[in-house]
Amino acid sequence: MSTTATLRVRVARKALEAEDICSLELVAADGGALPPFTAGAHIDVHLPGGLVRQYSLCNDPRESQRYRIAVLREAASRGGSQAVHDALREGDVLTIGAPRNHFELSGEGERALLLAGGIGITPILCMAERLAATGTPFELHYATRSRARTAFLDRIGSAAFASQVRFHFDDGPAAQRLDLAAVLAQPRAGTHLYVCGPKGFIDAVLATARAAGWREPQLHWEFFAGAEVAARDGDAAFEVELASSGRVIAVPAGLSVVQALAQAGVEVMVSCEQGVCGTCLTRVLQGEVEHRDSYLTPDEQAAHDQFTPCCSRARSARLVLDL
Ligand code: FES
Repeated sequence: MSTTATLRVRVARKALEAEDICSLELVAADGGALPPFTAGAHIDVHLPGGLVRQYSLCNDPRESQRYRIAVLREAASRGGSQAVHDALREGDVLTIGAPRNHFELSGEGERALLLAGGIGITPILCMAERLAATGTPFELHYATRSRARTAFLDRIGSAAFASQVRFHFDDGPAAQRLDLAAVLAQPRAGTHLYVCGPKGFIDAVLATARAAGWREPQLHWEFFAGAEVAARDGDAAFEVELASSGRVIAVPAGLSVVQALAQAGVEVMVSCEQGVCGTCLTRVLQGEVEHRDSYLTPDEQAAHDQFTPCCSRARSARLVLDL
């Protein structure tokens, strides 16, 4: 389920960008212009088999005739990346959601430091295009396992901003590896840091940045795939109370809050169902949350006044929700 209007698009081009990474170029099925988007935006893609997955747009946001996404074939795929790689063909018509953005560039005009880990390059590349177009100074560090697994090498190499990009290959000489402590050593006021990639990469970047004195408003991140949010051993049952009616709904160990609410006839809009997108964000009026999302900042989580019911649970016996 998605909160946005849907569009019909055609796969105009499918290409292999690197080992296990393919890109899709999507155009409006009726041949018209597509809704505009801003750097960092993503779309919901409705895939064969009824799956809905979020992918960041990686083309220049000034383009109105196409959306471009790139997808890594995940070894532990829940079916989404496999469907893109194996089932989709050029000419196929798909349903997508209109672009949404939870990873906006802020402080435009100010300096930016962009960090991408692997397939996390997709929104970062879009940001680089935007920053280059607006003449905003930036530096991009792109870390991957190897040159063969690095998407968009040619595109970046021929971009106007090529000289502002540093590649870091895990299997390359030590001197070119990403040295986070060095890259993040000088948190200048007016510089914003944007990072996207696997959870471990983002965690390392943010921890290093915070230790080096970067302030929270300077830090911006987006996970390209949700952290593990499946049911865990030891999950306890709890209750949620709907503030508007006083109704109490039990959430057993094996169900998420969203699922328990749905069974009771209460619908909460969801999209990623992984704690990544923020679509299901719900205000908490009372109780203590066990946060399992990657959407809220640590400070926001510590306030216990909002949570993502698609994956987060309760530490207290009951949560009172603003529903
Ligand atoms: Fe995306 Fe809950 S649906 S965070």
